[in-house]
Amino acid sequence: MIKVENKFSNRMVAYYFDASFSFIDTLADKHNCILLTDKNIAELYQSKFSSYKTIVIEAGEAFKQQYTVDTIIQQLIELGADRKTTLVGIGGGVVTDITGYVASVYMRGIDFAFVPTTILAMVDAAIGGKNGIDVGVYKNMVGTINQPKYLLYDFSFLETLPNEQWINGFAEIIKHACIKDALLFQELENNTLDVYKTNKDVLVDLIKKNATLKTDVVVKDEYETSERKLLNFGHTFGHAIENLYQLPHGHAISIGMVIAAKISEEINNLYSDEKERLTQLLQKYGLPIQLNFDKEKVLSILKMDKKRVKEEIDFILLNNIGEAVIMPISLTQVEDLVNQIL
Ligand code: GLY
Repeated sequence: MIKVENKFSNRMVAYYFDASFSFIDTLADKHNCILLTDKNIAELYQSKFSSYKTIVIEAGEAFKQQYTVDTIIQQLIELGADRKTTLVGIGGGVVTDITGYVASVYMRGIDFAFVPTTILAMVDAAIGGKNGIDVGVYKNMVGTINQPKYLLYDFSFLETLPNEQWINGFAEIIKHACIKDALLFQELENNTLDVYKTNKDVLVDLIKKNATLKTDVVVKDEYETSERKLLNFGHTFGHAIENLYQLPHGHAISIGMVIAAKISEEINNLYSDEKERLTQLLQKYGLPIQLNFDKEKVLSILKMDKKRVKEEIDFILLNNIGEAVIMPISLTQVEDLVNQIL
């Protein structure tokens, strides 16, 4: 096991890489621990969780809504959770988002921690402290920024991860490479998903690299006033189509990255062969690169985007592979671009 401590503005967060799930017993007294997971994970890992108080929610983004928060809070009260309780979210991004949110508001805030079980949660969703819920189709409309006490990476959870969830996670890995790491992009071009699925050392190295990349960006700008915005590459259109068409997050982000690359080519001089490299890499990892969407509906969702300030949205565009830039674009120009290039 390797322990890495990262200093965020309000707390130090310990990352335990290559740890075993049972290590959570050394991090908090079992009696002060409540697990929160979803039905899929609860069914697969019943025996691991049997000696803990456990709250189980429905699996999937559709349930990342206020009514799920209400049922969790009710169960926390019934289980006698108090200010000494640590709520440990075990699962993918929906579980980690909702765990962080509930823990941040229950009794005005209790400790929480994450055991991410998907690639996407390991490299992205469990890191950074943003947590929250959707409101109808509006993604992450309500939430807080609050850091967990620790992240525990037990890679054995990946043994049961369905193939489509592996693919989903690689969208965020490709995003990291696009905005910050041209060498990582090349590594991904030279490998295949199968290489990562079958070679634990290569995979662990990739996960650590990506967890570190995201952490470094967040530590520099936790409250997203500047650099952290780069992590939104592909997410403006991605979030707009995700709930509207019930797409897996990685698929939505993949299509969003292609749109952002097209806009980068149009107004930021991104070379067309760099855009091609991106679409080829996304396809190589099984991700979709286009969707026939209802432009009017998507534009109306964009108008509600959290990144909108007055009539402008901060778009993340590429200068080239490995380097991104924040560019405010007016809603009118977004509309023109959508009609012109999509
Ligand atoms: N929880 C994901 C993030 O903070 O970006």
